[in-house]
Amino acid sequence: MLQAIVALTGTAALPLNSDAKHQSGRLPLADTLFTDGPDNLDEFLSLSDFEKKAEQLMSKTVWEFVSSGAPDEITLRWNREAFNKIKIQTHVLKDVAKIDTKVTLLGQELAYPILIAPSAYHKTMHPEGEIATAKGAGLAAATYVVSSFTTTPIEEIAKVATQPTWFQLYIYDDRAFAKDLIQKVEFNGCKALCITVDAPVFGVRNGEKFKLPDGINAPYRFATQDRKRLTWKDIEWIKSITKVPILLKGILALLMRKMLSRQE
Ligand SMILES: Cc1cc2nc3c(=O)[nH]c(=O)nc-3n(C[C@H](O)[C@H](O)[C@H](O)COP(=O)(O)O)c2cc1C
Repeated sequence: MLQAIVALTGTAALPLNSDAKHQSGRLPLADTLFTDGPDNLDEFLSLSDFEKKAEQLMSKTVWEFVSSGAPDEITLRWNREAFNKIKIQTHVLKDVAKIDTKVTLLGQELAYPILIAPSAYHKTMHPEGEIATAKGAGLAAATYVVSSFTTTPIEEIAKVATQPTWFQLYIYDDRAFAKDLIQKVEFNGCKALCITVDAPVFGVRNGEKFKLPDGINAPYRFATQDRKRLTWKDIEWIKSITKVPILLKGILALLMRKMLSRQE
């Protein structure tokens, strides 16, 4: 599966299930990416090569969901600009015959410091959905952060995962639901919980057309439930009911401060 590797930074605003009419032109939503992906990856050099191919393979509606941001897409552009500004400091005349990119993070050894960020609804993008992502993560020795909006139950992902998984959580006001889910993912081997803290409401999007096709479910999504009441107290509570490390996903204050100071 073509899965972009994204950092655990700001959380994209996800649209709720909306009643949508199918777009004309490309495949209708129900026929989402049921075309086989390319077998040969030699033609792919950069992330944008993957992006172009993914666009060809997905229905227009799913592609819009994957690639668009909230209204004017300003922060989407900022993210891209910030990513493009990352520079790699080179150290010349070093023996690089053997390189080692291993790091230890929260007691877990990673082959390299890149995780697969949580993203929703993989079965709309590929028939195998999160199973394919987990297999891909295994082949790439990457840690896969499973989204709360997974379209595959965590038990099934756990069966195929050969690398550690983490789980991303939206905390709804129904705390019993949260507790059950935390226990379930822990039982299924998730090694850390990423609590998304920057999405108390869904962002609106222009031309929002997205709707889960019939036959694809997101078992841990509450489409109508509120999640506006999350505070530090809840983080304390989550700490008290889990043994695995907790990460807060979506803290932007430092990033914003840095960006603003660069503009001065
Ligand atoms: C299609 C898509 C779906 C996403 N779904 C989720 C999600 O279910 N939960 C979540 O916490 N973040 C979700 N995100 C946000 C990503 O995890 C990440 O934080 C965000 O894309 C910012 O990183 P980037 O600038 O590298 O894309 C999603 C992002 C995209 C593009």
